Amino acid sequence: MVQQAVRGDRVEELARRRGFLWQAYEIYGGSSGFYDYGPLGARLKRQLEAEWRLFYSLEGFYEIESPNIAPGEVFKASGHLDCFTDSSVVCKNCNRFFRIDDEIATGGKCPECGGELEAAGEFNLMFQTRIGVPKMDAKNEAYLRPETAQGIFINFQRLLRFNRDKLPFGVIQVGKAYRNEISPRQSLIRLREFTMAEAEVFVDPRDKNSHPGFDAVKATEIMLNPAEGEEGEMSLEDAVRSGIIANEYLGYHIAKVKEFLEKMGIPIERLRFRQHRKDEMAHYARDCWDAEFLSARYGWMEIVGIADRGDYDLSAHAASSKVDMSLHSPEGKIIPHVIEPSYGIDRIIYALLESGFAEERVGKENRRVLRLIPGLAPIKAAVFPLLNREELKMRAKEVFQSLKRELVYVDYDDSGSIGRRYRRQDEIGTPYCITIDYQTLEDDTVTIRDRDTMQQRRVKIDELSGELKKSLR
Ligand code: GLY
Repeated sequence: MVQQAVRGDRVEELARRRGFLWQAYEIYGGSSGFYDYGPLGARLKRQLEAEWRLFYSLEGFYEIESPNIAPGEVFKASGHLDCFTDSSVVCKNCNRFFRIDDEIATGGKCPECGGELEAAGEFNLMFQTRIGVPKMDAKNEAYLRPETAQGIFINFQRLLRFNRDKLPFGVIQVGKAYRNEISPRQSLIRLREFTMAEAEVFVDPRDKNSHPGFDAVKATEIMLNPAEGEEGEMSLEDAVRSGIIANEYLGYHIAKVKEFLEKMGIPIERLRFRQHRKDEMAHYARDCWDAEFLSARYGWMEIVGIADRGDYDLSAHAASSKVDMSLHSPEGKIIPHVIEPSYGIDRIIYALLESGFAEERVGKENRRVLRLIPGLAPIKAAVFPLLNREELKMRAKEVFQSLKRELVYVDYDDSGSIGRRYRRQDEIGTPYCITIDYQTLEDDTVTIRDRDTMQQRRVKIDELSGELKKSLR
C-alpha cells in the first residue's frame, strides 16, 4: 500500500513536469479546485472527448451545446437551489472548513492541524453571479451550471420535435460544470470547475424494461456492489432479472459505460459499479450506480454516475415554466423518464494516468512508461536520428515532416542519448519511436520501436506511415 501511495505521487509529479496538468493560477499561489491542462494534457483530454462523442453518436445520440450560466429560476425548478448542498464542519483551531464525507466526521480531528471539528451547517455548492447590471434583484440572479443536464431538459420539447415526436431518444452534451466545493483536496478528483460528458436518454416509462439493444449486452459480466447485499460479479441479464438493477434501460447503459471505459484502457480489475444508498442519492434520482475506479492513491472513486432520474426534471420544469413537457399518446399524456450516464472527464483522465503509469527495471536502468491506448496518446510517434550527426539529422527531419503531414501529432528529438530520448517518449505514452541510422542512408529503411515491448523492427520509409496507421488503429 505504501508503495502504491508513492506511485500516485509520482504520477502527479510526471503530469506536472511533462505538461499534462498544472495547478491553475500558480504564479499567484494557486487556487484549490482549479487545474490547467498543459499541451499534452489538453490533447489527451480533447481526444478522450472525441472518442466519447463518437461512441454515443454511433449509438444514435444527438449533441447539443447550451450556456454555462443560467437564470436562477432554472435551478430553483431543478431543485439545485434547495437541495444541492454538502454538510460542512469547521476546525475550532485553524478555522478551515471541510466537507463531511467518509474521511471527515463531526467531532473528528482536523486533517490539517489536528484541531477539534464542529458542525458548520449545510453549504450550497453553486456559484452565484448576476446577468447584466449587478442590482440586487431576484430577476437577474444567475448561477454557473452544476451539471450540463439541465440545458438538455429545458429543451425537451424542441428535441422531441426534432426526433419527430417519438420516444426513445438520447441527447449528449460535453462541457464545463461548476461546484463551489467546500474543501477540494485531491488533484483532479474534486474540482470546482470540471468537464462533464452527459447523456440523457428519454424513454416512455412503460418501455423501461424492453431496451432494443439489451440482448446484445445481456451476457456482459459486471462487478456489482449493490446497496443491499454482497459485492460480486454477475451477468447483466441476471442483475436485471433479479431486480438488482431496476430495469433494462439502466442495465443497458451500465454495460455501455463499462464498454467505453474498457475501450479507453481502464483496467477491468480496477472497475466496479456501486449502487447509491438511499441517503446518498441526489435529490433527482430514484436509483443511481457509480462506475468506480480503484485508485492506488484515493481508494474507490466515482468516475461515471448512471442515474434513473424518472420524470423528476421534466415534471419540475413543466410545473415551474408552465410549458407542457409531456408526449401525447393514444393512452393519454406521458411524461418521459430519463436515464443518465454522466461522465467526469477529468476523473477519467486521472484514472488513465494512474493506471497507465508503470515504473520498470530495464537492465540497470529504471524506465517510466505511460500505457495509454494509441487513440489517446498525445504524441503518436517520435522521430530520432540515432546520432547527433548532420547527415542523420537531415534525413530524420525529412521523415518527421512527411509523417507530420499524415499523423499530425508527431515529435522530433535529437538532444541527449538515444536511450534518454526513448525514456522521454515512454513516460508521456508515445506508442512508437522511429530511428534513422546509417543503414537508412543506404537502403531507406528505419526502425520502429514499440513502447510496450521495446522491440524494434525495420520497415521501408515508403511503408512507414501505412505501418504506423495500421498499428495505431
Ligand atoms: N448530472 C449528474 C450530476 O450532476 O452528477
